[in-house]
Amino acid sequence: SAAEKGGYDYFMLKEIAEQPKAVADTLLGRIDPSGSLTLDEVRISPQELREVDKVVIVACGTAFHAGLIAKYAIEHWTRMPCEVELASEFRYRDPILDGRSLVIAISQSGETMDTLMALRHAREQGSKVLAICNTNGSTIPRESDAVLYTHAGPEVAVASTKAFLTQLVACYLVALYLGQVRGTKWGDEIQAVIRDLSRISEEVDRVLETMEPVRALARTLAAKDTVLFLGRHVGYPVALEGALKLKELAYMHAEGFAAGELKHGPIALIEEDLPVVVVVPSPRGRSVLHDKIVSNIQEIRARGARTIVIAEEGDEAVVPYADHLIRIPATPTLLQPLVATVPLQVFACELATARGNEVDQPRNLAKSVTVE
Ligand code: AGP
Repeated sequence: SAAEKGGYDYFMLKEIAEQPKAVADTLLGRIDPSGSLTLDEVRISPQELREVDKVVIVACGTAFHAGLIAKYAIEHWTRMPCEVELASEFRYRDPILDGRSLVIAISQSGETMDTLMALRHAREQGSKVLAICNTNGSTIPRESDAVLYTHAGPEVAVASTKAFLTQLVACYLVALYLGQVRGTKWGDEIQAVIRDLSRISEEVDRVLETMEPVRALARTLAAKDTVLFLGRHVGYPVALEGALKLKELAYMHAEGFAAGELKHGPIALIEEDLPVVVVVPSPRGRSVLHDKIVSNIQEIRARGARTIVIAEEGDEAVVPYADHLIRIPATPTLLQPLVATVPLQVFACELATARGNEVDQPRNLAKSVTVE
């Protein structure tokens, strides 16, 4: 009913709008007044966490994209190797696991069969499993050693939005907590990032306030067949997520690429007026990546692409090459996906509407996939 949708036409729009609160709720009670993390609900002792020698993340779909981003954070802040694998592929290749592996299973519903089978396999090998989940008491957390709930509230639309942002927050919390417990050289950075995270909900809110041009742009692309997405570093999984949203909702051919791979093949796809969305890393910090992606934008535009550039406020280097420029607030590099994904959600939702598709219940899809 309209009331359930809180005045929005679709659950998806409501859930996109709920993201600032969802993100704040994921953080609630997990940062103590001294600025350290207290993840009491993670019932794997600090001693056990210090003995872990590798992290393995398993998930499907959007949750898998959260896992890909988590890898950058976990490896950076803990200096421990982290693998990310599609849950449906995991157990069939006989993965190397033992009592010192920490397996993280990410799932909104907590009922995804592929993810459940992956975590059962991990526990059989003696690994500890931590679930990151949005649904209280669902099967995946019940079968895990520990759970960090995302507290996004119920997500009804088939296309995941607020669950994704909160999965990211939960992953950052786990990465920072592992760093804190294990004591890495990033102590000061970890404190600073915890402070940045506690302000991030306002940044997500700011992005939402500036989405009208993104909707207008989406409407002009309704008759297109293909949209490509490019990103680098944590922007690469964001590109994959942008493409997945577009497939699910707009039924368009959409693909995400690592921008550095462009010259190894995908650049052959560029043709006159092909829309290409580019997620640009911050010019601060890892500026080498920024400069490389700016030259990628230049290259594809020279070959006729219509460039839709998502870049940090104040990044002037992209301006000459952007046919459409979508601004996002400056954040630390690793946190950028929390603000960069939002325009892509809005973009896909508006394109679906413009193409006359059912937004909340896309064809052929179910909210949770309980078969392998
Ligand atoms: C997201 O938009 C999708 N509908 C889908 O990829 C989903 O993320 C995937 O099926 C995993 O679901 P889960 O998080 O409930 O395990």
